[in-house]
Amino acid sequence: MESGAAVVELERNSTNFANIVEEIVKLEKKIFPKHESLARSFDQELRKNNTGLLYMMDLHGEIVGYVMYSWPSSLSASITKLAVKESHRRQGRGEALLKAAIQKCRTRNIHRISLHVDPLRIPAMGLYKKLGFQVDSLIKCYYSADRDANRMYLDFDSN
Ligand SMILES: CC(C)(COP(=O)(O)OP(=O)(O)OC[C@H]1O[C@@H](n2cnc3c(N)ncnc32)[C@H](O)[C@@H]1OP(=O)(O)O)[C@@H](O)C(=O)NCCC(=O)NCCS
Repeated sequence: MESGAAVVELERNSTNFANIVEEIVKLEKKIFPKHESLARSFDQELRKNNTGLLYMMDLHGEIVGYVMYSWPSSLSASITKLAVKESHRRQGRGEALLKAAIQKCRTRNIHRISLHVDPLRIPAMGLYKKLGFQVDSLIKCYYSADRDANRMYLDFDSN
């Protein structure tokens, strides 16, 4: 990955919270079709107590990717969103973001991380498998009448 790019945790009480969220919502709108987009509810999602967001800023201060995750219980977490700006893909950024989110979950003593992904999203499927996620089941019509989802999970051992 390009040196100098940094993964940053979004702090809810930071002065630039609104600006960062605005930038990320713009990316979300560009990257995801409506039925998969959290653009309308991003701010609300982030204000939940059990939700975290990491974003990647490049050398020029531009936000080029983000990962949102939540931990509904003390033992399990889910990756709710992961995206990298199209012009910045295939440079290790998605992997760095996902690894950082996994690390955050590990420090919370989470045992399992799960996620849903459209099996037609080949890059995402490749990335999740590369980092050890396994397919649990296919959920028909998860996103819309003609879009299914793979439910995937990554378990940590108890050590
Ligand atoms: C999925 C996504 C985040 C990957 O980001 P990225 O920065 O391009 O990925 P990386 O460069 O870190 O690649 C890491 C691994 O992902 C897989 N991968 C990434 N792009 C791929 C592609 N076009 N085809 C196949 N595998 C791919 C590979 O396993 C790759 O490892 P490798 O470089 O050793 O081959 C990005 O493609 C994206 O934003 N897609 C649209 C949104 C999306 O599908 N989000 C996930 C669903 S919520």
